[in-house]
Amino acid sequence: MTITQPDLSVFETLESEVRSYCRGWPTVFDRAQGSHMYDEDGHTYLDFFAGAGSLNYGHNNPVLKRALLDYIERDGVTHGLDMSTTAKRAFLETFQNTILRPRDLPYKVMFPGPTGANAVEAALKLARKVKGRESIVSFTNAFHGMSLGALAVTGNAFKRAGAGIPLVHGTPMPFDNYLDGTYPDFLWFERLLEDSGSGLNTPAAVIVETVQGEGGINVARAEWLRALADLCKRRDMLLIVDDIQMGCGRTGAFFSFEEAGIVPDIVTVSKSISGYGLPLALTLFKPELDVWEPGEHNGTFRGNNPAFVTAAAALDTYWADGQMEKQTLARGEIIESHLRAIVEEHPDAIAEYRGRGMVWGLECSDKPLANKIAKRAFELGLLIETSGPESEVVKLLPALTTTPEELDEGLRILARAVRDCA
Ligand SMILES: Cc1ncc(COP(=O)(O)O)c(C=O)c1O
Repeated sequence: MTITQPDLSVFETLESEVRSYCRGWPTVFDRAQGSHMYDEDGHTYLDFFAGAGSLNYGHNNPVLKRALLDYIERDGVTHGLDMSTTAKRAFLETFQNTILRPRDLPYKVMFPGPTGANAVEAALKLARKVKGRESIVSFTNAFHGMSLGALAVTGNAFKRAGAGIPLVHGTPMPFDNYLDGTYPDFLWFERLLEDSGSGLNTPAAVIVETVQGEGGINVARAEWLRALADLCKRRDMLLIVDDIQMGCGRTGAFFSFEEAGIVPDIVTVSKSISGYGLPLALTLFKPELDVWEPGEHNGTFRGNNPAFVTAAAALDTYWADGQMEKQTLARGEIIESHLRAIVEEHPDAIAEYRGRGMVWGLECSDKPLANKIAKRAFELGLLIETSGPESEVVKLLPALTTTPEELDEGLRILARAVRDCA
């Protein structure tokens, strides 16, 4: 067989050194469909990365593609700032009818800008404005985005250093299980809040991920989330759930906090909300928090109309009944059983597996092993990334529409990659 070397020259000479994912997957991708990506040299890859959680319904999902093509074909508005459009109306009505109303969630919807970081910045601004306080509490190993406000509540030292200025007004607290269960939950946090000599300025809000994606697939227990919600209420702090990566059904329910039975004050949503990989973000909040002045938070690309079209189609197709949640939980069990077998086969190399729904991680005892496994998986035709503070966790994030057969195939490739590297 002739192995052709991919032509990466323009990327290596012209594109900035800041590029990252393309370094782990040194090929040139050309087409993508469902759970597969195809490079220009004819290789096929099973995608267990799904655009870092932006492609929960797979690449170029045919139902969403049809809706998008029809909209473009009839010259539907593409760019409209935050003008009222038929596409935005259809999205808002569908979001209300399929997601908010059946869950009794009273949220107002803000379009803060197209990225997750935009949604986080708006959430932090709003919390500070409502409470008239500047301090925000975040958690160890949190990831909330790369803009300055979001970085200030992000844990990763390398990413924080990129800011180049002091990152202020954020205080980290231990995430669930950070102290290995040796101390009661929130002991430190409560003590600081109670003690007027602690030096902690009363926080406006607490921002949390229910499952830390970039931080290493750290899963907060439902009772920990409930205790956090209760603490926020007792201490007059707003609770912000960052559901950018874990929302849109990734953990089973549409919102990842539903399992815990909590109702956050503010929720950030992005990544898979458009369903098609088109940029779209939402900041949701309780109506009484809607203290914005018109235009106080603004942005050219907030009303991404093609994304409204695919988002409405995705909600109609996948969330009009309870099937998606059941399917995700069932497929999650397939993943879990394979991961359990991998850990049993390599008890020294793989410390543990953890996850919920269709987001899972394999923590490697020898930290560099995770990247070796991801590299080997790529050679074997599987796209899989790593996460955690030292990239020590192999992270599985397949599209929710990945079939049981595709899951089986990918997990068998992963098992082989682990065997080859451990
Ligand atoms: C939980 C969470 N919040 C915020 C972000 C930032 O989103 P974006 O990269 O679209 O700015 C991410 C991205 O991975 C994320 O996982």
